Amino acid sequence: MNTILITGGLGYIGSHTVAEMVDINSEVIIVDNLANSYFRIFKTLKELTNKKILFFNTDIRDKDELEKIFTKYKPNKVIHFASLKSVSDSSINPDLYHENNVVGSKVLFDLIIKHNIKNLVFSSSATVYGDPKYLPINESHPLSATNPYAQNKIDIELMLKRISEKYNDLSIKVLRYFNPIGSHSSLKIGESPKGIPNNLMPYIMGVAFGKYKFLKIFGSDFNTEDGTGVRDYIHINDLVLAHQAALKYEKEGIFYFNIGTGKGYSVLNLINTFEEVNEIKIPFKFVDRRKGDVATVFADSSYAERALKWKAKKSLEDMCRDSFLFAKGQSEQK
Ligand code: NAD
Ligand code: WQD
Repeated sequence: MNTILITGGLGYIGSHTVAEMVDINSEVIIVDNLANSYFRIFKTLKELTNKKILFFNTDIRDKDELEKIFTKYKPNKVIHFASLKSVSDSSINPDLYHENNVVGSKVLFDLIIKHNIKNLVFSSSATVYGDPKYLPINESHPLSATNPYAQNKIDIELMLKRISEKYNDLSIKVLRYFNPIGSHSSLKIGESPKGIPNNLMPYIMGVAFGKYKFLKIFGSDFNTEDGTGVRDYIHINDLVLAHQAALKYEKEGIFYFNIGTGKGYSVLNLINTFEEVNEIKIPFKFVDRRKGDVATVFADSSYAERALKWKAKKSLEDMCRDSFLFAKGQSEQK
């Protein structure tokens, strides 16, 4: 029996991961301070899985509380999702972001070392690559931060590298996600961020269900086929499967994996697909580029595919359909 401690386990990616973890006979302990999630997600996860899941409304910076959890439940694996993740907020409040994301991670990692935990999976991001120098981006692409959030991820990765050099019997997997969208097959959990969404798919959902009149497309003059930004969207279910594979990959050392599909789609491609599969119109207007946005980002995930024996399988149609159906269910409940 594995006992897996999952920080940020009620958030978008964390909750989907928990939903699958319990399927493979693991005991799960969630630590989340609800900064960007809701207690009701915990209740839904318990209903969905019908298994024992524990939840602590605890901040990862609270060393004493976190230590009590480690001492009592003795996790043997950790997946670290907890983070603030808004690029724009990070520029407004860089100190808060550093404190929450970097200092919080240090508190967690100190306890992982103290309690002799050997298996850690960390959520990093394609944002660590900055403005791409070449495409597709592989893991050797140079790192550069174009905003404080990206700098946080680079700082945490460097901290993990130092830990790995000092404690070389740890197995640390750094997953650099591209753009996760979609929702769980049960359609009971999905992406429900607090406040106005920064990311494309949750904003489209807001338009689809009447919260916003139209989507603002940030830029129509990028050097791409149709002038709109191109990204590597990956279905949340494929992303979750990458975590399961990463937990099973127990080689000692630190390993960096790009988690994407390798395919790039523009904002207009995504809207067209969304409209077609869901038979709905998404009104939009072109506005100026968003500060810091780049034209095209997509992954070379071949290393993850080989080493983790994992591959993203779901299509853009699946992603658009599942995002929509979850949001539809949510709006019907209201
Ligand atoms: P999310 O905001 O939905 O989930 C993060 C969770 O962490 C939230 O439930 C929040 O309440 C919790 N949290 C934040 N600070 C905390 C703290 N100090 N103590 C305890 N809990 C805290 O975000 P997500 O999309 O699920 O992202 C999960 C991870 O993946 C993050 O590390 C994020 O940076 C990374 N990531 C996300 C994306 C994306 O597009 N969603 C892309 C690349 C990387
Ligand atoms: C996708 C495309 C926008 C919203 C960010 C972070 C990255 C990672 C994922 C965490 C771009 C366009 C968006 C809107 C739009 N997160 N867009 N109108 O910018 O690739 O990455 O989220 O690590 O770090 O930087 O994702 O979903 O914000 O944007 O036109 O209202 O949609 O310009 O081309 P992005 P996104």
